[in-house]
Amino acid sequence: GNLEEEEYDYLFKIVLVGESGVGKSNILSRFTKNEFNLESKATIGVEFAAKCIQHEGKAIKAQIWDTAGQERFRAITSSYYKGAMGALLVYDISKHATFENLDRWVNEVRSFTQPDLSIILVGNKCDMAYAREVTQDEAIRYAQQQKIPFFETSALDCTNVELVFRELLVAIA
Ligand code: GTP
Ligand code: MG
Repeated sequence: GNLEEEEYDYLFKIVLVGESGVGKSNILSRFTKNEFNLESKATIGVEFAAKCIQHEGKAIKAQIWDTAGQERFRAITSSYYKGAMGALLVYDISKHATFENLDRWVNEVRSFTQPDLSIILVGNKCDMAYAREVTQDEAIRYAQQQKIPFFETSALDCTNVELVFRELLVAIA
């Protein structure tokens, strides 16, 4: 049927945050369209996509917002976060610098959202284990410190992509 007219019981806004190149847009396209692009361009401004999941007999619609990791391409921050109920905080397991900058993103998310916002830490590109720069141990420690769940994903080979959105939506519901 027509996706626009799809019925749902809950509508939750989710935002994707993290440094440029960590794979936010590909995580989104993998989840909503089952598509992956090896040569995707940096996001400019804001993009959206939506998808419904079923949980305990209810249809939960995720309205997912994806913005640029690069400061110069970002849209007005307050409108990006307005009404958000969950966030995926994404870094690249093969680039340690993207992990070191997580504090900046957490601070931004926390300053523009309600205290009850659900966040999940996502280490993307786990298919690139041969180039790993961030150990699972240090990510687990960071997640414990922030009191948030942690998963590794791969938008390329699909590992845990559906799972992190489902975990986030169920945490909100
Ligand atoms: P900005 O829009 O600039 O903030 O970047 P982004 O976080 O949206 O990154 P994007 O999804 O555009 O991905 C950047 C690059 O990483 C692209 O070349 C993707 O193909 C690649 N990429 C994304 N996810 C994965 C993954 O899980 N594994 C591998 N190997 N490459 C990935
Ligand atoms: Mg992008």
